[in-house]
Amino acid sequence: MRFGGLTAVNAVSFAAERGAITAIIGPNGAGKTTLFNCITGFYRPSEGAITLHHEGRDTALHRLAGHKIARAGVARTFQNIRLFQGMTALENLLVAQHNRLMAATGFGIGAVLGLSRYPAAERDAIDRARHWLEMTALLDRADDPAGSLPYGAQRRLEIARAMCTEPALLCLDEPAAGLNPRESEALSALLRSIRDGGCSLLLIEHDMSVVMGISDRIVVLDHGAKIADAAPAVIRADARVIAAYLGEGDEE
Ligand SMILES: Nc1ncnc2c1ncn2[C@@H]1O[C@H](COP(=O)(O)OP(=O)(O)OP(=O)(O)O)[C@@H](O)[C@H]1O
Ligand SMILES: [Mg+2]
Repeated sequence: MRFGGLTAVNAVSFAAERGAITAIIGPNGAGKTTLFNCITGFYRPSEGAITLHHEGRDTALHRLAGHKIARAGVARTFQNIRLFQGMTALENLLVAQHNRLMAATGFGIGAVLGLSRYPAAERDAIDRARHWLEMTALLDRADDPAGSLPYGAQRRLEIARAMCTEPALLCLDEPAAGLNPRESEALSALLRSIRDGGCSLLLIEHDMSVVMGISDRIVVLDHGAKIADAAPAVIRADARVIAAYLGEGDEE
């Protein structure tokens, strides 16, 4: 991915295995979020290919618009929380299922003719939302405006929202940022249970206790290039990885 003269992600190649947690780590500005923006269709990569293998099909994500990538089974959360702050937690999860609900109405026409499968689809959507509110320990906050929730709860609500679309691949951009150690531990347990439910995860994260604790594989980026790709124990001892982090200055 190039921006003018800057190559933000440079010929990075890796595979995120099905049913695994693959972490993407690297210093600030390494190109991690840009990589997610390419995978999820916010940017169209200048070159290269991104392929989703799901349900026996190969989908070329680099050729699809963002909403089609979502429909193909890729969901994400954002480095900066993006919820509808004035809507309740439950409403945020129902909005996320808008596509499915629209399909159930025959995109409006069935509803007019009174042939709609909408009521059943709406019940399913509410059940799915309640399930993910429960999984993220937010059931008691279902009717509270998202904006009134504490920061950690808003981060969990973003994950619940992504999961309501029933993705094959969930991309998380720094989900542990701003969490206290107890919340980070709960997050690790949540992400493990999502993986164990069969969803594949791509995880950008600076919190090494989370990364080392739950990742099946770790890809390390530095200045837009991949410098390592291995199991956590190998990454921990990799001299190039250590140098990339130590070279970062003392802000972290
Ligand atoms: N839309 C854009 N236009 C121009 N440059 C961009 C754009 N988006 C990202 N960049 C640049 O690409 C590089 C990688 O940025 P990116 O946000 O992907 O880093 P990151 O690894 O997510 O960092 P952090 O850990 O701080 O979130 C940076 O130099 C950034 O300034
Ligand atoms: Mg980033």
